[in-house]
Amino acid sequence: MTTKTSLQKTLGTWLTIGVTLLWLLGVVASGVVARHEMNEVFDSALEETAQRILPLAVTDILNRENDTGNQRALALKEHDEYLTYLVRDASGKLLLQSHDADPRVFGAKPRQGFSETPTHRIYGEGAISDTLYIEVAEPLDHRREAVLETSLALLTPLIFLIPISLVGVRWVIKRSLRQVVLFQQSIETRGGSDLSSVAVDHLPEEFEPIMVSVNRLLERLRRALEAERSFTANSAHELRTPLATALAKLQRLKAEAQDVLIKSRAGEIEESLRTLSRLSEKLLELAKAEGGSALSEQPSDLVPILQMVVSDYEHKAPGQIALKLPNDGISSLLDPDAFAILVRNLIENALRHGADEKPVHVSLSDDGVLRVVNSGDIVAPDKLALLCNRFVRSSTKTVGSGVGLAIAEAIASGAGIVLNLRSPASGQNDGFEAELNIALADTARGALP
Ligand SMILES: Nc1ncnc2c1ncn2[C@@H]1O[C@H](COP(=O)(O)OP(=O)(O)OP(=O)(O)O)[C@@H](O)[C@H]1O
Ligand SMILES: [Mg+2]
Repeated sequence: MTTKTSLQKTLGTWLTIGVTLLWLLGVVASGVVARHEMNEVFDSALEETAQRILPLAVTDILNRENDTGNQRALALKEHDEYLTYLVRDASGKLLLQSHDADPRVFGAKPRQGFSETPTHRIYGEGAISDTLYIEVAEPLDHRREAVLETSLALLTPLIFLIPISLVGVRWVIKRSLRQVVLFQQSIETRGGSDLSSVAVDHLPEEFEPIMVSVNRLLERLRRALEAERSFTANSAHELRTPLATALAKLQRLKAEAQDVLIKSRAGEIEESLRTLSRLSEKLLELAKAEGGSALSEQPSDLVPILQMVVSDYEHKAPGQIALKLPNDGISSLLDPDAFAILVRNLIENALRHGADEKPVHVSLSDDGVLRVVNSGDIVAPDKLALLCNRFVRSSTKTVGSGVGLAIAEAIASGAGIVLNLRSPASGQNDGFEAELNIALADTARGALP
């Protein structure tokens, strides 16, 4: 399970959640304020109604010729009443009521001022020295409905606001991080062959120090690699002459020596010097392969180069190489000298580490795939994966320093080509195969690690 998170996703999600929560909080606060204000307005209307009806009701009651008790006010037209009222005396005796009024809603005795039952808000007012009372009741449902409708009206925009803010926030973040993504891609494309500093304009202020540090690090890395390569190249170069001189002197000593023991000891030293000389040559090749680009400005046909290298080995080991060439030339941007070094290392390996009695198959297909295949023991997958590292060898039975494949790999990656090693070779039960497509050499990919 990965614990990596995307800054864009995290900011997008949390900002949207934050905006939504704040909006909801705003709706709740507005609802509470609206309810309070509405209650004030409704209360004032209730009070006003009571005070308006009271004188009319008192006149009506006093004008009755004989006290006939409760009377129901006639409705002018059939309608639902939001406000209902009762007029009672101090003992609670009903004198007048609106046509829809339900006396059970009101208390047993009239009360002055505001009061509330589970279902109604009531306002009571007294008249004629508090001998007559009017009470006006308003159903609470009516108020709740008004508050609910107001809150819903505030909530409705949220349905559109959430997706709009989600898209908007993502767009803004994406825009702001565009330069950061460019910066990341620019670092990603850097490799051993491209350690130039990263330059991205208009990078957000917070990322500027990172760019400065990365560039400083790249510069130090470039210098360290250059120092290492030039040291390897210089030492290998400087070793050439003394080694050649020592070899020549030893050969003379061997020729002049009469003693068989001295002759054989000189032969052993000569072999060691030759190994040392081969190693210094390989190190020089490695320093060159890792230091410079393996690409040339103009494409060239590499088939003659392959023929030339193979015929070199044919002289040394006649009949051991089976060569298969394409019908036409293969044009490639891979530098011919670098290609020759690469092929030489692969063929030398196949001859040296492969089974003695079986030939080495070197083939170049029409689409540029070069294969060098030999028989022999299978190399275990864990060792195979490490063979391109310097000084790594899978067996100590054969001579060698373990640098050849590192050279081949450095040249291939410098040209943007992938060098594939397989064991057993494809289509065989044993052996080793090195494969790469030289037609894919490309300047743009040459900078890749
Ligand atoms: N064609 C091959 N068949 C079998 N094993 C191979 C083949 N090529 C490479 N190897 C294994 O990979 C190891 C590394 O090869 P590499 O060319 O890097 O070094 P080397 O051949 O041992 O020495 P040198 O530096 O002289 O080339 C070899 O020692 C060998 O064990
Ligand atoms: Mg080798």
